Amino acid sequence: MLRNALLQLSKSDGVRRTIEKAPVSSQVVHRFVPGDSTEDAVRATAELRATNRFATIDYLGEDTTDLTQAIRTRDHYLELLKALADADLSQHGMGEVSLKLSALGQYLPGDGDKIALEHAREICVAAQEAGTTVTLDMEDHTTTDATLEALRELRKDFPWVGAVIQSYLRRSVADCEDLAHEGSRVRLCKGAYKEPESVAFQSGGEVDQSYVRCLKVLMAGACYPMVASHDPRLIEIAGALAAHHEREATSFEYQMLYGIRPEEQKRIADRGDQMRVYIPYGEEWYGYLMRRMAERPANTMFFLRGLASK
Ligand code: FDA
Repeated sequence: MLRNALLQLSKSDGVRRTIEKAPVSSQVVHRFVPGDSTEDAVRATAELRATNRFATIDYLGEDTTDLTQAIRTRDHYLELLKALADADLSQHGMGEVSLKLSALGQYLPGDGDKIALEHAREICVAAQEAGTTVTLDMEDHTTTDATLEALRELRKDFPWVGAVIQSYLRRSVADCEDLAHEGSRVRLCKGAYKEPESVAFQSGGEVDQSYVRCLKVLMAGACYPMVASHDPRLIEIAGALAAHHEREATSFEYQMLYGIRPEEQKRIADRGDQMRVYIPYGEEWYGYLMRRMAERPANTMFFLRGLASK
């Protein structure tokens, strides 16, 4: 119930404005979001690199219906990719970027899909110059087909663009089968949005079972699986499947979110597996933080204590 309420609130502009204006302790936000600026994102990437972890960086923002804002988001990514290259943090995909098409203009009336695709293409050109890769985040189910279509378009010129599959969607095993081919990079996560029963499993058990079915397809395939989860059971199953298919440690990776289970992130990197951390940065932290709270009551308590302490 709390999860549904928080996911509902994550889309509420009124609550967003109230919370953004509240004097939230920067410590609370900074546990999950290292800062507002390009420098903050680069610094967090360098810190991860020092402990052998990779990064995928997301300039926060979503659902924009303002072309100027979509252009600004594109420009932030272009600036970030240049800064990563200048700091020698982008080569060989070390620090890559994650994009939300809805932040790049997908919801603009008329040509939204085309505009978002063009912005994503410009970011891919910059990523290629920086020697790194791009992954298209997956948003709510109403955008799945459009996002996979954008992926197909981008991959014609940039075959290294990665996709995200959400195991809570009933369609996802079939999508994994389509994407399990050579050269394809696929991030598998549980899914973070409030979705109707008609398209998505509702119980945690069913979502986990679907995650394992998807993992089996990806690990057996020729693709590059990116196992995005903090769930110890799923991480163990991913490792067992990788061993079963005699995968080299460099043929797949684990992914977690910035600030979540950092000790486990280091442990996985230290044992010789690849660990990539998703770093969100920027001022638009509200929707992102609400989804993290929906996932875990302990995160909500941490946030509320931070609000109350001010
Ligand atoms: P879940 O939240 O169910 O937690 C399972 C278990 O993990 C817990 O029972 C606990 O044992 C452990 N755990 C979780 N949080 C912990 C904590 N703070 N401390 C200690 N233990 C903890 N979603 C989406 O819809 N589209 C997307 O594009 C992406 N992209 C993305 C990238 C990356 C790199 C990650 C890691 C995640 C995403 N997500 C996402 C979010 C994803 O869908 C999902 O909402 C979260 O990862 C939470 O799901 P978990 O698999 O971690 O399990």
